[in-house]
Amino acid sequence: MEFDVIIIGSGLAGLAAALELAPRRRVALVSKGGLADSASNRAQGGIAAPLAEGDSVEAHVRDTLVAGAGLCDQGATHGIISQACGAIAWLREHGVAFTADGQGLHLTREGGHGQRRIAHAADATGSAIVAALGARARGQAGITLLEHHCAVDLLLAGPPGTAQAICRGVQLLDLRGGRVFEAAAAHVVLASGGAGQVYGTTTAPPAATGDGIAMAWRAGCRIANMEFTQFHPTGLHHPQAAGFLISEAVRGEGGVLRLPGGARFMPAHDPRAELAPRDIVARAIQTEMARHGLDCVHLDISHQPRDFLLAHFPTIHARCLALGIDIASMPIPVAPAAHYTCGGVVADVAGRSGLAGLHVIGEAACTGLHGANRLASNSLLECVVTGRAAAQDILQRAAMPPRAAGAGWAAARTASPPSADLARLRQDLRQLMSRDVGVVRSDAALRRAAAFIGPLRAAMEARLLREGPSLELLELRNLALVADLIVQGASARRESRGAHFNSDRPEWSDARAGRVMPPPAQPGGALSAAAVKPVPATP
Ligand code: SIN
Repeated sequence: MEFDVIIIGSGLAGLAAALELAPRRRVALVSKGGLADSASNRAQGGIAAPLAEGDSVEAHVRDTLVAGAGLCDQGATHGIISQACGAIAWLREHGVAFTADGQGLHLTREGGHGQRRIAHAADATGSAIVAALGARARGQAGITLLEHHCAVDLLLAGPPGTAQAICRGVQLLDLRGGRVFEAAAAHVVLASGGAGQVYGTTTAPPAATGDGIAMAWRAGCRIANMEFTQFHPTGLHHPQAAGFLISEAVRGEGGVLRLPGGARFMPAHDPRAELAPRDIVARAIQTEMARHGLDCVHLDISHQPRDFLLAHFPTIHARCLALGIDIASMPIPVAPAAHYTCGGVVADVAGRSGLAGLHVIGEAACTGLHGANRLASNSLLECVVTGRAAAQDILQRAAMPPRAAGAGWAAARTASPPSADLARLRQDLRQLMSRDVGVVRSDAALRRAAAFIGPLRAAMEARLLREGPSLELLELRNLALVADLIVQGASARRESRGAHFNSDRPEWSDARAGRVMPPPAQPGGALSAAAVKPVPATP
């Protein structure tokens, strides 16, 4: 198992990097599930780019900085947005069919954007992109697909968090074969997405357990802005489809938020009403739900003709109808759902992480584009731009042989069987995070969360050493670590800003800039060979 480049994660960022690298490098593309099991595949709204007449990079940057509540990195923001139109052209060259409007692309509108700016494929933009790029990746001889493989930890030469540390590969758990092994590479690219699963209700897929962020932390990388979990204002509120996304484009095309009695409430919260940035709309909904003792509010797009809804929102229309909600004639029950991890591993626009041999791209990275609150539809954009830029950065370096793999012990390790109590602990953690570290936090709630998470983290580490890895254990280990990083970030931020709101500290404080967490005091890193007991492989 030796490659030039190992990419962890098969969403848009990973696919973009793989396709740019594959003609000239031997690439492994690792996915915990199938190639399409990514958050990118679920993205509905689209990709923001200043394509409209009269729009400009500067205007798009301005809207991004406003949404980011003072914490965007202006250089990175300009660097990414100035490549937005090129990113759309690249996707079209790779077979992505965006919704057209006459000669050009139809552009929809979303919160925080001063004008129509979102290129989209109806309301299933992510799946159109992943289908097109995924088909190319499958047909590309230079790409080895390792589906159903879970990354355990990065392999380092040199002590984590020091200038001597170099990433030389990754430990992988083959989820079907049950074997743990080492894969060596000159470059590892983390494109493993965010950590939406740390919350009870999320729009993110089951695989979004913060694996890349947790692995990078254990390898000594810098992590920033984890307190800024973005809650999408309009996750579907339904017992069979909690968190199914009702795209912001529904509000962009005129959808209004109402209380169950029909009263509209957003104008009282912000002059931009339903099209205010997401943090504001999510908090307004949460406030109204608390004030009126509600589980949800209503999103009403029923004034639009059915033909319009079928053309623009076929996926949402069909999914809701299957649940008995006809969006053409009745309002949609919605509530905020965890949607996006604005923070992550500190990296530049080309994904350089500060750890030699490691690039981090997409949602796992914190490039400075999103600041304290991501502007809608800037995430797929960041995936394409950083994925391609990381590939170019790697290609510019002389091709190197993979650094030597470790002692070879890992071939003997096998996965431990899943255990029922891990599912319960995961559920407890997610409920706690939603209750205490959700849209609105408080000092006492953060202390309560920290008291639960610290021991859970320690227990998961001990258990991994005792029992060996299983998918459930690896994911809960990473979720507990990421939850801890979120709570640490939220506790250290003695103000409210963007997606972080603490009811005990509701004001902005200009003294609080972006905060970068120091590397861990105790290096974690790869499992110790001596400590992992072999157990029978899962069937
Ligand atoms: C949406 O369609 O509302 C999601 C778009 C995004 O998260 O940027």
